[in-house]
Amino acid sequence: MSNPSLTQSPAWKALAKHFGNVSALSMRELFTSDSSRGKRLTAEGAGLFLDYSKNRVTDDTLQLLLALAEERGLRSRRDAMFRGEKINSTENRAVLHTALRAPREAEIMVDGENVVPNVHEVLDKMATFAHRLRSGMWAGHTGKKIRHVINIGIGGSDLGPVMAYEALKFYSDRSLHFAFVSNVDSDDFAEAVHGLNPAETLFIVSSKTFTTLETMTNAHTARAWLLKGLGGDEAAIAKHFVAVSTNAEKVAAFGIDTANMFGFWDWVGGRYSMDSAIGLSTMVAIGPDNFRAMLAGFHQMDEHFQTAPFEKNLPVLLGLLTVWYADFFGSQTVAVLPYEQYLKRFPAYLQQLTMESNGKSVTLGGQRVNYATGPVYWGEPGTNGQHSFYQLIHQGTHLIPCDFIGFAQTLNPLGRHHDILMANMFAQSEALAFGKTAEQVRTEGTAEALVPHRVFEGNHPSNTILAQVLDPATLGRLVALYEHSVFTQGVIWDINPFDQWGVELGKVLALKILPELENLGETTLHHDSSTNALIERYRRMQLS
Ligand code: F6P
Repeated sequence: MSNPSLTQSPAWKALAKHFGNVSALSMRELFTSDSSRGKRLTAEGAGLFLDYSKNRVTDDTLQLLLALAEERGLRSRRDAMFRGEKINSTENRAVLHTALRAPREAEIMVDGENVVPNVHEVLDKMATFAHRLRSGMWAGHTGKKIRHVINIGIGGSDLGPVMAYEALKFYSDRSLHFAFVSNVDSDDFAEAVHGLNPAETLFIVSSKTFTTLETMTNAHTARAWLLKGLGGDEAAIAKHFVAVSTNAEKVAAFGIDTANMFGFWDWVGGRYSMDSAIGLSTMVAIGPDNFRAMLAGFHQMDEHFQTAPFEKNLPVLLGLLTVWYADFFGSQTVAVLPYEQYLKRFPAYLQQLTMESNGKSVTLGGQRVNYATGPVYWGEPGTNGQHSFYQLIHQGTHLIPCDFIGFAQTLNPLGRHHDILMANMFAQSEALAFGKTAEQVRTEGTAEALVPHRVFEGNHPSNTILAQVLDPATLGRLVALYEHSVFTQGVIWDINPFDQWGVELGKVLALKILPELENLGETTLHHDSSTNALIERYRRMQLS
């Protein structure tokens, strides 16, 4: 059943009509006819500068997209989220990752309770722990200083911590070594502990539910590894395991003292949790002050999203442009291209944030949508990607909007490196937008047969996000920018970005198949013929 409300709405219909007039416009024309475009189509907020001029939009397009945002109730939905209303309707939960970075004096009510004091209580407890661990006051079971910290978690309980650790490594305590185990594949755990001394190793078991199969399997393996290495004394667990979870009962059942548990709440979605206690490894790595600076950065972007007029509002603009390409140009992906090596895990982090959030095909009311929703996000840092997949963006058949992210200053000034890096970033967005015509190619003396191969059509859209330097606050601002862009998209599409029912079926089926793999004598299988044959082959291969 289709949902008529979005595609039948006046603003949508106006956009569809308008698309017919502007889809063939080239950026060459748009820039030639307006010399101020590159300065005009920009916005600045919370320390980030956004140039969105290299998009296939006119002033009318922007007005129509902004009208769509108003018509879809973005303003009231945003306010409802910040107020703590239960906008995650399929799970009957508030959505309050913004409370995780609210200042101590703020008041945000959920079910009649101000949640902000609880947030700061946990942050203070994390800070005390981080200080003790970093200073050596928290020693291992044998009295040795902890030198290795291993976060065990998956999805939002891994991607945020690992991304933030990599992004902020420059600010980290280099006497501590960090590893992140997520995959149930034993290779992951085996490599993470390879050569480590259990007496110097601390595990942070991070799981909102404390039931996730991968995390629990790894946590039990870690427990066995630790006990084996420390002579089997169960008392060692208290010094080598801490937990981050919403589920105190399960944490206690695992054998971790809940005094060493850092809590959070059901109104924090897994993929929105890197600034909750799930960020414990981040805080240990960079220290409480830097962690608080990161939270302040998140909060600045929250305020910008709440207060800036939509036409100057970075997440709103980014979200609306994403809708424009996904639904009118039929773009199926967005490339995120940070020109900052420390952000190498940022695209992977954004994949969960964007795709687990907006990978939905029914509306809040349960009707099948008749328009495209969340695109595939992907990317790699520049300049590496230039020597890999950029070819397809420049000359392939897909229209792939790109987000370039760059910084005025490098954290590691070395000769000309940074200018070379940034020259490449600016050059790529220029080449994508304006390309190179056949005439230009011919003028270079290119043989006629090669001309079509060397033409760049251009007209490939991109945003450029510029910030001063990658520091903790800037990372917070960047993550919040994308969180609120995802929210903006979700409101337009009338979907729920805060549930993730789509990950359930595979989990259930895996639990059904597991005993079929382990009980090698059992022969009767009741799957489809492909799954049956694969399981049978796997069993035979086990026996050979
Ligand atoms: O992939 C599904 C999911 O529920 C994610 O949303 C979540 O981030 C991840 O699993 C891990 O869940 P948990 O923190 O409960 O172990």
